Amino acid sequence: MAEDLQIAKGNKEEQYQSLLPQIKGLLHGETNLIANLGNICAALKEQFDFFWVGFYLVEGNELVLGPFQGPVACTRIAHNRGVCGTAWAKEETLIVPNVDEFPGHIACSSLSKSEIVLPVFMDGKCMAILDIDSKDLNSFDLIDKQYLIQILELLNSK
Ligand code: SME
Repeated sequence: MAEDLQIAKGNKEEQYQSLLPQIKGLLHGETNLIANLGNICAALKEQFDFFWVGFYLVEGNELVLGPFQGPVACTRIAHNRGVCGTAWAKEETLIVPNVDEFPGHIACSSLSKSEIVLPVFMDGKCMAILDIDSKDLNSFDLIDKQYLIQILELLNSK
């Protein structure tokens, strides 16, 4: 069992390791933020077949839906509300193994069971958040966090 888990994690890490240079290539020479966020979503969705991958952009005291891949989603999230608004307020990554156990979770789809949300820093300021949802419980861990941070850092060299 532990061995199976190890293999599964190895596979996930390998997938991120091969995806990282691909995303770097996709972003190369392109400075338009929306184009780059769109391609990051598409690349992550293609690679991992996540249920929902998307960005919410900071606009005043709200997050507004940006480029995404997956089913339709709620368009505005208040500061400190839901997983996304909380990750924004705390400026830290939140890994939610079971969304039903996160107080105030915003259910854009009842099919979403676990979630990871990361702040996107540009010039040291949180300008957006990346939200990834899975139909399975417990889908995300520190490996996702580590590689997703590296992917988001690519936006800073623009
Ligand atoms: N579940 C999120 C809302 C966004 S959707 O999952 C796409 C939250 O609680 O902030």
